[in-house]
Amino acid sequence: MSKKVLVISTSFRNGSNSDILADEFIKGAIDAGNSVEKINLKDKTIAFCKGCLACQHTKKCVINDDAVKIFETIKDVDVVVWATPVYYYNMSGQMKTLIDRLNPLFVSDYKFKDVYLIATAAEADEAAINGTITGLMGWIECLDKTNLKDVIKAVGVCAAKEVYNIESYMKKVYNMGYNI
Ligand SMILES: Cc1cc2nc3c(=O)[nH]c(=O)nc-3n(C[C@H](O)[C@H](O)[C@H](O)COP(=O)(O)O)c2cc1C
Repeated sequence: MSKKVLVISTSFRNGSNSDILADEFIKGAIDAGNSVEKINLKDKTIAFCKGCLACQHTKKCVINDDAVKIFETIKDVDVVVWATPVYYYNMSGQMKTLIDRLNPLFVSDYKFKDVYLIATAAEADEAAINGTITGLMGWIECLDKTNLKDVIKAVGVCAAKEVYNIESYMKKVYNMGYNI
């Protein structure tokens, strides 16, 4: 059955490795007949959460910026895919900022169950991704319906566009997209 997929690519770097993998995931998902929307955070204006918790009563954020539109989009998809570089053993700050701003989800109806993570890191050890997974699990565990379906741990990629040369990651992420 065709699924609605939202891919959120969070790196601001030109030639971003995680963004390249996100595009390969999208190719697989589209080839399998799904519909995909991609959001690139480098084109967006997203302020930090103020922590007022007004959203827990109103189901809306008091800050009117691009996070509001993303909140409306994410509620209606079947699958959410995060692509992030590892920064200091965790997700990118821009990804965390968006997660915080999606706090109205906590009290809202949303459809998605399956969440995927595409993470890139310079170090060769897959453990470099663990902090990012732990951080994302903090979000997933707070949203009762959701689970972390699969993760691409693309380690040993440092320079921009380097991941193009690593066929195993490109194939793996295509198949992940194909098999959602
Ligand atoms: C601020 C910053 C922090 C980073 N921290 C780590 C780290 O903790 N571990 C690691 O393996 N790589 C780290 N890196 C390297 C990136 O994860 C790596 O270059 C990755 O391929 C970037 O993905 P992107 O091209 O999608 O932005 C860091 C890079 C930056 C800019």
